[in-house]
Amino acid sequence: MDPVRGVDLAFWYIIGVSFLFLVGIGVVMVYFVIKYRRSKNPIPTDIRDNLNLEVVWTAIPTVIALTMFWVGWEAYLGLRALPEDALEIEVGGQQYSWIFLYPNDKETEGELVVPYGSAVKLNITSWDVLHSFYIPSYRIKVDSVPGMTTYAWFNADRLGEFDILCTEYCGIDHAYMLAKLKIVPEEEYLAWLEEDSY
Ligand code: CUA
Repeated sequence: MDPVRGVDLAFWYIIGVSFLFLVGIGVVMVYFVIKYRRSKNPIPTDIRDNLNLEVVWTAIPTVIALTMFWVGWEAYLGLRALPEDALEIEVGGQQYSWIFLYPNDKETEGELVVPYGSAVKLNITSWDVLHSFYIPSYRIKVDSVPGMTTYAWFNADRLGEFDILCTEYCGIDHAYMLAKLKIVPEEEYLAWLEEDSY
C-alpha cells in the first residue's frame, strides 16, 4: 500500500474508534449519573462476578486493539517496502543542518532536490549526535544515528516544496535544523544535478 495512504488510514482509524468510545462512554456516563442519582436510587446495588460481561469486555477491546495493530502494521510494511528502482541519496545529519549527497557526488545543504515521478531512497546517518529525519508530507520519520545507516523512502508523486525537519532534540539550535524537499520535473532535476555544488 502507498505509505502516505496507509499511515493516514491508521491514524484516522484509531482517532475514529477513540472518538466513538469517547462519545459512547460519555453519553452512558451522563445517563447513569442522572438515572442513579441519590434521590432516585438511595441504596446502591452491589454487583459482583458476571462472567458473560467480563468475557465481552475483554474480547471486544482485544479485537479492536488487534485491528488497530493490523492497520498500523500494513502502513509500516508500506514504509519499509522499498521499490527496486529507487533513486538513492545519502543523508547526513549534523548540528544543525541536513546534508544531501547525490549519485554523482553533488552535495547540498538544507535542500533535497528529486525528480518528479520517481521513488527515492534516503540512506540516513549522523555525523555527530542523534537526530531524526522527518518529512511530514510523506509520513517519514527515521532516526539519524552516528555509526549506522537507517533508511526511508517515498514516492515523489507531487511537484512542489515540502518541509524537512529534525524531530529529535539534538542541541541548542535543534529547532532551526530545517531543510526543504523540492520535487521538480525530471529534466529540471538532471540539469540541476550537473550544476556545481554550493
Ligand atoms: Cu538535529 Cu534536532
